[in-house]
Amino acid sequence: MIPIYRPWLGEEEAEATQRPIRSGWITQGPEVAAFEAEFADFVGAAQAVAVANCTVALQLALIVAGVSRGDEVITVSHSYIATANSIRYVGATPVFADIEPDTFNLDPDQLDGLVSPLTQAVLVVHQIGMPCDLGRIVPWARQRGLVVIEDAACAVGSEICWHGHWEKLGKPHGDIACFSFHPRKLLTTGDGGMLTLVNPDWADRARRLRQHAMSVPDTVRHSSAQVIQESYPEVGYNFRLTDIQAAVGRVQLERLPRLLQRRQLQVEWYRERLAGTPLSWQRQPPWARSNWQSLAVRLPQGQSQQDWMQRLLDGGVSSRRGIMCAHREAAYPPGSWRGASLLESERAQDEVILLPLFHDLSQDQMEKVAEAIISCCP
Ligand SMILES: Cc1ncc(COP(=O)(O)O)c(C=O)c1O
Repeated sequence: MIPIYRPWLGEEEAEATQRPIRSGWITQGPEVAAFEAEFADFVGAAQAVAVANCTVALQLALIVAGVSRGDEVITVSHSYIATANSIRYVGATPVFADIEPDTFNLDPDQLDGLVSPLTQAVLVVHQIGMPCDLGRIVPWARQRGLVVIEDAACAVGSEICWHGHWEKLGKPHGDIACFSFHPRKLLTTGDGGMLTLVNPDWADRARRLRQHAMSVPDTVRHSSAQVIQESYPEVGYNFRLTDIQAAVGRVQLERLPRLLQRRQLQVEWYRERLAGTPLSWQRQPPWARSNWQSLAVRLPQGQSQQDWMQRLLDGGVSSRRGIMCAHREAAYPPGSWRGASLLESERAQDEVILLPLFHDLSQDQMEKVAEAIISCCP
């Protein structure tokens, strides 16, 4: 059976975990600080704040951006449910825009119809690594004084052409970007997340809030020759990343350029090999370079997603359905969200499947996937 995904972990990561264990400092310490600095350098960000996962990164991003109860945040339903949930956690209402059918990203044409006096922010998603149209969305938001938060959970290493230069997502091009280090992502720490920010005051507040809003971090108190007593001026959270996870993340960050290169070649091969089939591929606009976290294909119209997935499984190939839609879940009853027609979002969930794609997927395995797909084609 060819799995849908396998993370790339090796002896280097195993060895790296021994550093914090031997040092005795195993959470929110020097490894986390080094990981933040190296990650900021990689994406070109001024500020990076490591946290326990991307879901809490999104929650913190909304809090430091001033989004609160009664506000509205424009986003997409067609995303992992964590995106919409983060808006609900701060008491705000998600306002769902539909997606472009070929990139699976927020359709900027929808924004004018969804904005209201309650709108505080736009939470965009770079879906499965494909950059969304920030070139249109950011100026639209700036004109209206709205914050732009980027859910870059899947997009580490993806690039966008910005004012004529290729730049990594996460600089950020909006106000805050949030990354996930779940094992399904290109860079994994088991679980983990990172915010990158422009505003240093927002970054400082995120650093305090992730650790119960403690006024002086324990790293500072431990290295001080004076006794320092901390205080807790607001209600914070435990969103810490451990030093063991950060040590793994630092090795993963070094691996990332090789992984990105390999993904590009694998996707090119798949597209060439399956060029004669009626499948359609996620479109990469000329100003975008995806990290190809996942390989998404749309099935020919009228074909059953369930049947395709079963036939692939019978042929020894795992696949997954397209990205979910939050508004179709029981957790999102009428009244809990507002939005446009979400026809393209629903079609993408029902008509798209994800195919195996990971670093050590061999040429033979890719050929087996291609043959299984061809045998399913009408
Ligand atoms: C688009 C998107 N946002 C947020 C998340 C949540 O990330 P995490 O599992 O690190 O909390 C995911 C996870 O898959 C995701 O795909």
